[in-house]
Amino acid sequence: MSAFSNTLIDRLAAAEHVAVLTGAGISAESGIPTFRDPDGLWEKFDPQELANVEAFLDNPELVQGWYQHRRQLVEEAEPNAGHRALADLEAHVEEISIITQNVDDLHNRAGSRTVIELHGNITHNYCMDCERPAEAETVDAAIQNGTPARCPECDGLIRPDVVWFGEMLPPNAIEQADAATTQADVFLSVGTSAVVYPAAQFPMEARANGAYVAEINPDTTGITDEINESIRGPAGDILPALRDAVAERKGQ
Ligand code: OAD
Repeated sequence: MSAFSNTLIDRLAAAEHVAVLTGAGISAESGIPTFRDPDGLWEKFDPQELANVEAFLDNPELVQGWYQHRRQLVEEAEPNAGHRALADLEAHVEEISIITQNVDDLHNRAGSRTVIELHGNITHNYCMDCERPAEAETVDAAIQNGTPARCPECDGLIRPDVVWFGEMLPPNAIEQADAATTQADVFLSVGTSAVVYPAAQFPMEARANGAYVAEINPDTTGITDEINESIRGPAGDILPALRDAVAERKGQ
């Protein structure tokens, strides 16, 4: 017996627009730690000390060093079978939007064409003062010299292009995510604990707009009780099986 329902396959095979919300769990099988699992980042590090602008201004080297470490992990990682299956699904569904809370670039590298980054992208850096993009090498060189990384143009501090606690999400990403959510015939929530807003509200919005909403996660989440279907298991197993079932249903 498959882990997912025939209804889900029917709805995916008939869908014109699918929206997928992803979280840290989809990248876990690429070796990138999640946030709230027992070995997750927020278990070992205090977000108040690292992931907000006050912490950064107090100790830029510490925060730059932490993000450099996480960026290097991302650069060494490869997309896994889950990321690739979502990219492959584009061959079988007219339009797929990936709304990701992840700051890694693994959906892009797997070949997904529409990736909406709600929390930024850790591989990008910019100057806090003049907002010019900054090279990762500038950050790496400064950290190696034990000094805060500064903009070569204006000497402002360089920060990662990620959303910190207390900061607004990029308005254009929210707008695109809202549009994808509203249009979705099927909405998948993959590898997210669905407790951080506004991301966690998208599955509910999709359902209110008539989408069939399913989650893929080994554990229960903040939305489990409010959606159509929960598929329990790792994304790297479930998503390829889902892709194959949709392809088979469509005779492709
Ligand atoms: P969490 O760490 O909160 O949740 C990770 C989820 O992935 C959990 O529900 C796990 O059960 C699930 N999971 C673990 N392994 C999995 C696998 N192989 N396949 C599928 N699911 C798996 O991460 P997020 O929900 O992404 O924000 O966290 C949301 C936001 O909280 C992050 O973007 C970050 C953090 O604070 C910012 O930094 C702004």
